[in-house]
Amino acid sequence: MVFQDATAFIFNNKGMSSSMSTKNATTSGWKAGDRSPKIWKGKLTFIMAAAGSAVGLGNLWKFPYIAGENGGGAFVLVYLAFILCFGIPLLAAEIGIGRSTRKNAYSAFDSLAEKTGANKHWKKVGGLAISTSYLILSFYTVVAGWCLYYFYISATGRFNDPAQSFDKSFTSGIFEALLASPISLIIFSTIFLGMTYAIVTSGVVKGIEKTINWLMPSMMLMLTVLIGYSAAVGDFDAAVEFLFMPDFSKLTLDSIIIALGHSFFTLSLASAAMITYGSYMPTDNSIPKTAFAVAGVDILVALTAGLAIFPLVFKYGLEPGAGPGLMFISLPLIFNDMPYGQLFGSAFFFMMFIAALTSAISLMEPTVAWLEQRFNWTRNKSAALTTLSLWVVSLGTVLSLNEWDSPIFFGKTLFDALDYLTANVFMTAGALATAIFCGFCLKQEQLEVMFGKGSLAIPSFKFTMRYLAPLFVATLTLASI
Ligand code: PHE
Repeated sequence: MVFQDATAFIFNNKGMSSSMSTKNATTSGWKAGDRSPKIWKGKLTFIMAAAGSAVGLGNLWKFPYIAGENGGGAFVLVYLAFILCFGIPLLAAEIGIGRSTRKNAYSAFDSLAEKTGANKHWKKVGGLAISTSYLILSFYTVVAGWCLYYFYISATGRFNDPAQSFDKSFTSGIFEALLASPISLIIFSTIFLGMTYAIVTSGVVKGIEKTINWLMPSMMLMLTVLIGYSAAVGDFDAAVEFLFMPDFSKLTLDSIIIALGHSFFTLSLASAAMITYGSYMPTDNSIPKTAFAVAGVDILVALTAGLAIFPLVFKYGLEPGAGPGLMFISLPLIFNDMPYGQLFGSAFFFMMFIAALTSAISLMEPTVAWLEQRFNWTRNKSAALTTLSLWVVSLGTVLSLNEWDSPIFFGKTLFDALDYLTANVFMTAGALATAIFCGFCLKQEQLEVMFGKGSLAIPSFKFTMRYLAPLFVATLTLASI
């Protein structure tokens, strides 16, 4: 089996060029129904795919609103510190776990545990990670549907109606009306999920590699234009002060936990996405460099999104802690009075939709890869079943925004509970377990396969995984209980 060939190559440390691995994958075939070679060809593809996974609604939608709800500067600082101290090493670890096994997350933990003589229950960490990505996608697709709806209404001129007096109560009215309508929510999230399915089912190279290679650069371009405009028309100084002047009196234990959870969420950690993508990464890409590059792009986009949204929030007197609707309520205000606002507004929401799509692909891939490898199903069948079941589960989120809009779980609606549970409980637990696994179970030999022989990254990586990350995360979790 090709993955075993590849793993043997890698673990014997003889090295294997990406072209060789691709060729192997093509010629020997994997298993029934799998027709695509599963190692990416382009040198930049992995970075783009991983950055595409990392950069998403977490950066553009969630980061600004949770920064707003948690008091700004101090929260942002803590979030950045978590990315640097734990996020980047964990990202490297997950990519390495994927690449050195060339397997789905469940089997990757299983095979590494077997190789290193660790307890066989470690594979459950992979299972938890796959379930996490599945659950996230069930609500992610609904929020991505909001972006698609906003794209539709801005392209059709709803934000540029001269007869309409344009203020925050008008834009919040549009947002509330959308949430109150299950039909609209279902239509737009179904379109989004269908597109994710279409790309994932086309395969790792034909579908994912080709699409991501043009989606990511176009998204970065649009974001750059938006921040320029928002800085010019909005209250940029107030935004900078809000985001970068830490006021530690506003920091609570809960906001530290949210910052930690979000640092995992935004880097797509503990959700099997990076392990699965890592399994398609050519052997000649450097893992530490890639992890830094991906985190760098991710931070840049989150801060840019904050700097695009908060100038408007302050200029129009919106509440920074307005919650999930923050960007959907604030941004249309500038699209209304900016030149070419209709074009620009639609381009912006289209960009959000692209960012969401590249993340959703990576949220669907772990389950699909697991089904393919576990049951020997074709990619089509695995992707179709994943999509159909997700569609049903996503109805829970849709209805929790209107018909079932009541607290069912620790005072939270189903949507809020799923969001909180996945990012702050499952991801934190998964990241903690991954750190312990890497720190205590992996041997020098495996670390050298990940980072290269004699790499200076190994000692600091080991220290972080063994002591720093577990101690910190465990203390925080205990404190919160
Ligand atoms: N990182 C993505 C975002 O910020 C979300 C995501 C989480 C994607 C987990 C894949 C896995 O939007």
